[in-house]
Amino acid sequence: MRTRMGYVIPFAILVTASSSFAEPAAQIFRVGEGITCFVPKGYDPQKTPSLILEKPVEPQGEMASPSSLQPEFTLVNGKAGATIALSGNVDLYGGGEVMGPLRRNGKTIELWNTDNYKYKLFDQKRLYQSHPWVLGVNPDGTAFGVIFDSTWRATLATEDEQISFQTQGAPFRVFLIERDSPQSVLAGLAELTGRMDLPPVWTLGYQQSRWSYKTAEVVREIATEFRDRQIPCDVIWMDIDYMDGYRVFTFDKNAFPDPEGLNDYLHDNGFRSVWMIDPGVKLEEGYEVYDSGTAKDLWIKTADGKAYEGPVWPGLCVFPDYTMPETREWWSKLYDGFVTLGMDGVWNDMNEPAVFNDHKTMPSTNWHRGGGDLPAGPHLLYHNAYGMLMVKATREGIMAVRPDRRPFILSRANLLGGHRYAAAWTGDNASTEEHMKLAVPMSLTLGLSGQPFSGPDLGGFGGNCTPELFSEWIASGIFFPFARGHAERGTPQKEPWAFGPETENTSRIAIERRYRLLPYIYTAFQRASVEGLPVMQPVFFADIQDVDLRAEEQAYLVGSDLMVIPNWAVDPELPKTTWPSFSIVPADQEDPIQADVRIRPGAIIPMGQVVQSTSEPYMDELTLVVALDDKGRASGTLYEDAGDGYEYREGDFAQLEFTATQEGNRVHIDYKRKAGKRTVDENRPLHVELIMSDGVKKASGRLGEGLTVEL
Ligand code: NOJ
Repeated sequence: MRTRMGYVIPFAILVTASSSFAEPAAQIFRVGEGITCFVPKGYDPQKTPSLILEKPVEPQGEMASPSSLQPEFTLVNGKAGATIALSGNVDLYGGGEVMGPLRRNGKTIELWNTDNYKYKLFDQKRLYQSHPWVLGVNPDGTAFGVIFDSTWRATLATEDEQISFQTQGAPFRVFLIERDSPQSVLAGLAELTGRMDLPPVWTLGYQQSRWSYKTAEVVREIATEFRDRQIPCDVIWMDIDYMDGYRVFTFDKNAFPDPEGLNDYLHDNGFRSVWMIDPGVKLEEGYEVYDSGTAKDLWIKTADGKAYEGPVWPGLCVFPDYTMPETREWWSKLYDGFVTLGMDGVWNDMNEPAVFNDHKTMPSTNWHRGGGDLPAGPHLLYHNAYGMLMVKATREGIMAVRPDRRPFILSRANLLGGHRYAAAWTGDNASTEEHMKLAVPMSLTLGLSGQPFSGPDLGGFGGNCTPELFSEWIASGIFFPFARGHAERGTPQKEPWAFGPETENTSRIAIERRYRLLPYIYTAFQRASVEGLPVMQPVFFADIQDVDLRAEEQAYLVGSDLMVIPNWAVDPELPKTTWPSFSIVPADQEDPIQADVRIRPGAIIPMGQVVQSTSEPYMDELTLVVALDDKGRASGTLYEDAGDGYEYREGDFAQLEFTATQEGNRVHIDYKRKAGKRTVDENRPLHVELIMSDGVKKASGRLGEGLTVEL
């Protein structure tokens, strides 16, 4: 091992004080605006391939002005680490899917994707995803972000004085982004890791799942129940019991005799369907998926070269080695005969990969063979990338079959950058008040770690849910980017009507609120897909210089103009400028459990109509909620397109900008097209609800006419 001075000293002396070997990067270069890459001595992409970045970076000269933030690298017993010393009062965020507070100062997590039922295991330090990323916000609102570009098993500690990342593998690069705000740092993160593709609009509706709706008949009943009760819903989810003995890409012939017919039924009734696929392939000769994977020799190997076998739902399984291009191709093709049956989306679960043993996964010494850009390497290197490589192949498979539609994949495991391929739900939470509350910082942190599309199992997965808890949860959680109710097998039913009429009423109102806000929510997703900003944002984004807001984790923002304060929030820290509350559907005024939803002064929020699903026109009439700033002005954007497909990339979209200007006792509302060539129906009824301190002033007209509200 080499020291800073370059001497080679014997290993025995090295063990005493690892910090003394810390050395600066061997190479430092600029790779983008305010983005620096630090390369340590000994870095070898064949030992630490980059799976996090979207594409290779090109050096663009030297770092402009040397920053005070300089990683120091260590290598002890072949295990690489990096430390960044901090000065001043920096608020730290990130680390992806984490338990605990939004503000991460003083926290340590382990990056080792783990099936963690009810988040109870491993001292709550390990969950299903790995995001080796830290966002730091300085007192003046300037910010920085750090990517530790490694998938080796690691520990990430975010202390007041330093950030340290200690891996169990080879040296890795560090990327530092320094910009004038946390928002622009996140834009920088997206420049390196890519952006989420714009999802189809149906994925933004309410979704209903359970482990499992056990027969096609039950699925139909659930769908009918939603429509009969007039509770809006877009998607019904099929968990593992649709399969034949949990064999992936098969169907239980008795319970789901005609999956295509079921999908047709759901489509005819305005629903979409998402079906689960796990990575574990049942070890069974004669089962086509097993036989074809075995014939092609595609399974992860043990250290001594045999196909690794481990138990999951179907019994003993083998596991596709997604590091091999031929495995990804084979896996992609399996979706051919699957999604052609009319599946709208795919749910990839258990992809840490989870194995039913004490370690919860396979041995770290298991062997991946790689190929293409990826070197061969042990599971210790590839474990954290397993889920991401799986969903990448899934996505490619779906796109090959249906190139004209936007794919939707939900994944439990993932890696920083994996938002390129799949949305996230936060795994097996519990039906407890604690888990309802911690879902807010958890999804906020995922958003601050590059994953804009996430949410928890609303109502909680494990255990029984009370009517009160379900009401509180759906009322406060319905505005998360991903809004799906789900429940563990063996628990009582957790659909919105399962808790009696009062909870059903609260649920209906909450879901209707989300549907009315869909034009705004879709616009926030579009922005996330272009700029890399989260959809769900922390309250401190409203005023990045207000340090009092930095730890607020009960209230949250959707986009930059809408704030949600759960009914259960106690003394939330809010922006100093008051954001006025507004009503979204009339009934929300009579239901105290509904979250307090507020609008940013100076914003215009576009709303549509309540519909039962996005298969109905939901923007035939537009309502603009307007809150003037202290200069009597407001503005807001509406993005609209076909809601699916890729024609928007050819210009078939409309981005409209609305403005409100006060002149004396009148407020004029105008709109203009900012981008896109999609035809805009100017005859569309337009309603304005201007929120003033003495009440809401209303006016109605047509979109093309412009409107004036009398004060
Ligand atoms: C584990 C997942 O986290 C859960 O959501 C699912 O219901 C079960 N696997 C069964 O597939």
